[in-house]
Amino acid sequence: MQRRIVRKLDLEMLLSQIEPHPSPKPNLEQYTVSADVAATTLYIAAYIHDDIIDKTILDLGCGTGRLALGAAFLGAKQVIGVDIDETAVRVALRNSKKTGLKEKVQWFVADIDAIHGQFDTVLQNPPFGVQRRKADRKFLKKALEVGNSIYSIHKSPHKDKVFIKTLKTSETNTMPATPSPFIERFVERHERRIKAVYAMLMTIPHMFSFHTKRKHEFVVDLYVIEKK
Ligand SMILES: C[S@@+](CC[C@H](N)C(=O)[O-])C[C@H]1O[C@@H](n2cnc3c(N)ncnc32)[C@H](O)[C@@H]1O
Repeated sequence: MQRRIVRKLDLEMLLSQIEPHPSPKPNLEQYTVSADVAATTLYIAAYIHDDIIDKTILDLGCGTGRLALGAAFLGAKQVIGVDIDETAVRVALRNSKKTGLKEKVQWFVADIDAIHGQFDTVLQNPPFGVQRRKADRKFLKKALEVGNSIYSIHKSPHKDKVFIKTLKTSETNTMPATPSPFIERFVERHERRIKAVYAMLMTIPHMFSFHTKRKHEFVVDLYVIEKK
């Protein structure tokens, strides 16, 4: 069991070794979470809310494994990563060998609909629903069904330059944010509550034809959801 606090820089270094998807498909919105957003998410989950160390973790739509492997590195008891895409899971397995975490994570190629059971913590960076409307809803629904605490990354409505500049200069790279009324109602209907929302800046390399710049920079909101 990992009780020593891991330095955020060490976590980021580990996460930056994790290969992204080699041929991401736009319809599955297969972009890899940036190493810094993954590290901040995991840090908040582990050291602010105590939801990683010695906990059972499910990474829904795990892609090539950044969130799952980061959780294993911080001392999760058991980690499962699930993705519908075989290539993503193959790369995740390779990433787990490369980082020495192979024994700590189990990977499955499956639709998230196939997942049942109960987990202490669900981590997810779901498709935002930009390509397929409401794609994120299915993930939220599954997370609420099988997870006790949920960490879910969503596209933020914030686009203004002042907000982005403040985020860039903030010491923690996060700012408190207001939940979307839709997510708030959705969560309430499932007898849960939103404990916190953290806005973060995500920068990803150009990947899809609809990305017009070399780097794509946007704000995401990390929702922390708990049982009432
Ligand atoms: C935005 S990517 C995030 C990948 C990874 N979690 C990360 O943050 O780097 C969303 C992932 O969800 C997966 N996905 C989409 N629909 C899915 C489904 N119905 N069941 C399982 N995985 C799905 C995609 O293949 C993709 O890897």
